Amino acid sequence: MSRPAKALIDLNALRHNVTLANQLAPQSRTMAIIKANAYGHGAVAVARAIEDLVPAFGVACTEEALELRESGIVKPICLLEGAFSRDEIDVAARHDFWVSVVNREQLEAVLASRPASALKIWLCVDSGMHRLGIRPEELVATYGALNACDHVASGIVVATHFACADELDNDFTRQQLARFNAGMAGLSGEGNIALSLANSAALLGWPECRADWNRPGIMLYGSSPFQEPNTLADQLQPVMTLKSSVIALREVPPGETVGYGARWSARQPSRIATVAMGYGDGYPVHAPDGTPVLIKGQRCPMVGRVSMDMITVDVTSLQDVAVGDEVVLWGSGLPVNEVARRAATISYELLTRMPRRVPRVYLGADSGS
Ligand SMILES: Cc1ncc(COP(=O)(O)O)c(C=O)c1O
Repeated sequence: MSRPAKALIDLNALRHNVTLANQLAPQSRTMAIIKANAYGHGAVAVARAIEDLVPAFGVACTEEALELRESGIVKPICLLEGAFSRDEIDVAARHDFWVSVVNREQLEAVLASRPASALKIWLCVDSGMHRLGIRPEELVATYGALNACDHVASGIVVATHFACADELDNDFTRQQLARFNAGMAGLSGEGNIALSLANSAALLGWPECRADWNRPGIMLYGSSPFQEPNTLADQLQPVMTLKSSVIALREVPPGETVGYGARWSARQPSRIATVAMGYGDGYPVHAPDGTPVLIKGQRCPMVGRVSMDMITVDVTSLQDVAVGDEVVLWGSGLPVNEVARRAATISYELLTRMPRRVPRVYLGADSGS
């Protein structure tokens, strides 16, 4: 016997989504973004399951990259935020980590370093998101300094990141692209420079942003980056299905309340199912009354405040329900985006916050991982 809360990870769905990303841009290469433990899905298992489909991975930091190397992942891994200290540059050179340069300090650190082998650099340009990257006007000088450096490998990639690509009627993506291209114009004499622009939303929704390298993250896990239905995003398959079971049932008379703070009260004679799933399992504490869950494939409203280990669900309308029945919190049959929207958050947060306590159960593909 074990606690029934589990995150099933469908590696066939993952491979389907990666294949879709590849097919959307056959002239591009896909860097699979697997930072934050592959958005909560388990970075090592995810990398193993798709290493034959992608030429490189992207992570946030050296620790994440080392975990992958130590688990036998051999493909290049890009440090998307660059090296946080000088010694990380040496580590990167030893392990074939590609190093982003996102500001002047990192540029100076790279130029001053003495790595054991030449560094592969991703130069990040701030085209308007104003988070990371050098200004477009600095591109010529920065690229020139890196290109002239003995220990920088040829083939510097120039990248940018979009702030609003998930809003298909927002012109900001085109404005960012124009600023980026204006910066790149200064490098026209340098021959072909590889570019990387698109996250999931840009890859799916902005064909003009499909460049030499795309960097999809959320779409690989089957969650649409868009609020609205989208023909391409709707072909994605959910990778994580968060499941648990009914662990208690009771009849609640009208006027009685359920859970902490007595937030919900029964208006009619109600049957309430208690489910082994709470905010300690990554379920959003701010989920309001009415957030759907699936019991035996049927949508039922969650009612009452989410506890650490339990939620309560109104199953009055279900024909028969028993202790032990399976409950789906999100995933197959119930998009994580829908639950996220109800709880005033985003799928990224729900997925990446999935705690260690919830066992990942890998299905399909190479489920030995
Ligand atoms: C630099 C960079 N590229 C790509 C991605 C992937 O974005 P998404 O998950 O929206 O596809 C991220 C994620 O935050 C990122 O920071």
